[in-house]
Amino acid sequence: MPQYLVTGAAGFIGRSLAAALVGRGDSVRGIDSFISGKRSNLSGLEAMEFLEGDLRNPADCARACAGVEVVFHEAALASVPRSVAAPAETNDNCVNATLNLLIAARAAGVRRVVYAGSSSAYGDTPTLPKHEEMAPNPISPYAVAKLAGEHYMRAFTRVYGLETVVLRYFNVFGPYQDPASQYSGVLAIFCRRMLAGEQPTIYGDGGQSRDFTFIENVVHGNLLAAAAPAEKVSGQMMNLATGRRFTLNETFAILRDLTGFKGEPAYAPPRRGDIRDSLADIGRAEQLLGYRPQVDFREGLRRTVEWYRKGNPA
Ligand code: UD1
Repeated sequence: MPQYLVTGAAGFIGRSLAAALVGRGDSVRGIDSFISGKRSNLSGLEAMEFLEGDLRNPADCARACAGVEVVFHEAALASVPRSVAAPAETNDNCVNATLNLLIAARAAGVRRVVYAGSSSAYGDTPTLPKHEEMAPNPISPYAVAKLAGEHYMRAFTRVYGLETVVLRYFNVFGPYQDPASQYSGVLAIFCRRMLAGEQPTIYGDGGQSRDFTFIENVVHGNLLAAAAPAEKVSGQMMNLATGRRFTLNETFAILRDLTGFKGEPAYAPPRRGDIRDSLADIGRAEQLLGYRPQVDFREGLRRTVEWYRKGNPA
């Protein structure tokens, strides 16, 4: 029986987490519906037991949770603009799916669920850095949906005693992030375009900033969250980020050096539902998990550009 379940195992973050677990010899099951995950992301994960399934379907959740001790819930439609275009789809795949998964996890005797929360829960409040005591202020349907999942986690801990840990991710980037969709993360899109000599588009004036977090830091935080003592972390929510922020204009300049792109960015009107600035206080994850970022932004970008430069994704 696998010890770990990774939902969204064919997606960017799920795939990376599953690879780390497999790499240290753990037994892992992955599930993905391929709505946004890619079959090609499963290559290299042959040691993982894989289920094609959809968390909107309770029977698939039950199959996925059977015999599992710890669930990493990474499956989501991870896009603000996609949720603006299709809010019900985001609700089904984030909120309903998460509730189904929790019900199945409890029924199967799962000990702990580690949940991929989102910094979008903080919304557009001017206070920086964002710390966990701040009142949530979600402004996109996506942010609402990811926040609802957090509340379900805490409720399942309070009401049923299921151990849950919420990690609020801040703009994760790195190898295996899909650069090809209009809903892709900005750094994946920029890497691909600039390596191809194509002009990237900055929505707004480029002064908006993000606490861009390299994937290895997120994997590291998840492994710590799975292993930490319940009395310390169960029912808790914490930021998972780097505690540094970069504007899109700064990011573009770094990428110009790394990719050799010679042109300027195109500027277009700001995107609806966007927030201006994002920066995490990472003190709580440091205190509760012993978390420290392992790879800084520039090094993460360098590795990411190299990965795309090698012709990935295949
Ligand atoms: C991202 C994540 C979301 C996560 C949130 C908080 C993605 C796709 N979304 O949302 O899942 O919950 O961080 O961690 O990873 N932009 C451009 N040009 C482009 C694309 C984007 O200028 O071609 C701008 C956007 O308008 C925005 C910024 O870049 O201001 C970041 O956008 P994006 O990468 O989509 O991330 P978030 O919306 O911050």
